[in-house]
Amino acid sequence: MCPPEHFKVTYSINPWMDPAKPVDLPLAFAQWEDLYERYRSLGHAVELLDPRPDLPDMVYAANGATVVDGRVLGARFAHAERAPEAAVHLDWFRAHGFPGIHEPAHVNEGEGDFAVTASYLLAGRGFRSSPLSHDEAQEFFGRPVIGLELVDPRYYHLDTALSVLDDQADEIMYYPGAFSPGSRAVLARLFPDALIAEEADAAALGLNAVSDGRHVLLPQAATGLFAPLRQRGFEPIGMDLGELLKGGGSVKCCTQELRAAGCPSP
Ligand code: ARG
Repeated sequence: MCPPEHFKVTYSINPWMDPAKPVDLPLAFAQWEDLYERYRSLGHAVELLDPRPDLPDMVYAANGATVVDGRVLGARFAHAERAPEAAVHLDWFRAHGFPGIHEPAHVNEGEGDFAVTASYLLAGRGFRSSPLSHDEAQEFFGRPVIGLELVDPRYYHLDTALSVLDDQADEIMYYPGAFSPGSRAVLARLFPDALIAEEADAAALGLNAVSDGRHVLLPQAATGLFAPLRQRGFEPIGMDLGELLKGGGSVKCCTQELRAAGCPSP
């Protein structure tokens, strides 16, 4: 995670961002800290990245890399405003002794567009990550990549429209309206038992969630997801990251998962 010390909305690269809307920085920080403390109280170790004053979107740490089995696929950002974040993440992984690091040739915004299930790497395209990055990720990780086309600009990253609930199984939740008809058909075929989100919960960024296989941390405004999650045996934990929503992100965007070798969950 990366503390939102320098978080602000000074440019707009997604429909949620309006530079005319002020951000309450102390509140953003308190909301982010709640999430940080919650992970720790659930027993998850959290590593912190040093925020940089010239990179206001760094709080959305999910976008900086994808780590599976301890192997690190770096990011390459679509927009110039965020481009320098990629090197900050790579430096962190190098300094922390991660051996298998790949600097990507094609645009990919890390876990914003890559999601790991037991069988697949799901990969979003349409707004940010290049379809060429899907092949690159497949070759690097040796996992079958399922490319998914995003069609609604509000759901510009895969992690705004789909969330992995159990990466030991192939259990996910998603909002079909964010995907092209062909990609919807693929999702329905591969994940017939998925939890299907309603539009209101998707619009509250309810799919921007993090699950450890038991607890699901998600935006608290996505009230329609709580009962179905409980029915499936998960414990939903509602978080208020309202200030960070102004940049177009919530729980998952603020969290990059370090999937260690032989340990698929953080
Ligand atoms: N302002 C950021 C951007 O548009 C938000 C990124 C949100 N992160 C995410 N994983 N969806 O790039």
